[in-house]
Order: sequence, then C-alpha cells, then structure tokens
Amino acid sequence: MALERTLSIVKPDGVQKNLIGEVYRRFEQAGLRVVAARMMQLSQAQAEGFYAVHRERPFFKDLVKYMVSGPVMVQVLEGENAVSKNRELMGATDPKKADKGTIRADLAASIEENVVHGSDSVENAKNEIAYFFAAADLCPRTR
Ligand code: CMP
Repeated sequence: MALERTLSIVKPDGVQKNLIGEVYRRFEQAGLRVVAARMMQLSQAQAEGFYAVHRERPFFKDLVKYMVSGPVMVQVLEGENAVSKNRELMGATDPKKADKGTIRADLAASIEENVVHGSDSVENAKNEIAYFFAAADLCPRTR
C-alpha cells in the first residue's frame, strides 16, 4: 500500500445539487482525508488549462463551458492508494456504466454532469494538485 494524494473536484452540478457533504462523506468513510480544499469559480482559461489534454476531443468546448457554469469545490485527498480508491468511489465516467453504489451511478445525470473529477494516475495527480494548490496550502494529516 502506498500513501498517495489525489486531486478531486466536485463539479458545478454537484455543488448546485448540494452534494458536497454527501461526496465528502463517501471520501471520509472510505478512509480518505481532505488535506486542502477551496471553492472556486473557474475562469475560462483555468478550465481550458486544467483539461488541456482533452483539447482535441469533440466534447472539449462543452466541457469547458460546463466547468465554468458555476462554482466548483476543489480538494486534495490523502490516503493509502488515494488515486485508485477515489476512482473506485467515483465509478466510471459515464454514470450509465458506473457500478451501483458509486458516486456517479448514484448521483450523476450524464457523462458531462458527472458530479466529480478525480486524477487518473499518481503522476497526473501531482500535476493537477500543483495546478490549484501551493505546497503550503496542504495540511498533511498523516503525522
Ligand atoms: P473528467 O474525469 O472530469 O475528465 C474529462 C471529462 O470530460 C469527463 O470527466 C467527463 O465529464 C467529460 N466528458 C464529456 N463527454 C465525454 C466523453 N464523450 N467521453 C469522456 N469524457 C467526457
């Protein structure tokens, strides 16, 4: 087991539907600790930069438009195998394909409005955390 950190975002639909607490409850129940958090209204440039790897995808424009449509809650989660644990909690990107009991199967409306984002690898987690947080923003809970 490896102690990891991952970046998580409660997306505009999750915030709008008052699901921040429900999502955090699932993180905490699974043993993930919130070590940094910030509510933000993303700018166009911030959303485009965050999803730059998807720039050439047909859904990019709509994805960015949706991500700036309202506030998001951005957090860093810490715990054993945090990256894969968070992905298990989220379920598949498309809620129709997500396992029952996952955040997306239980709470998401569509592949776009899918309540949460989570880093897909330890390497990407490092970059995504650095995109939103300075090292001094993190409050390690493992001491
Ligand atoms: P996320 O994990 O935040 O990463 C990129 C996002 O693009 C993804 O979740 C989806 O919400 C969104 N998206 C919209 N359409 C698609 C699609 N056809 N395939 C994959 N992701 C999509």
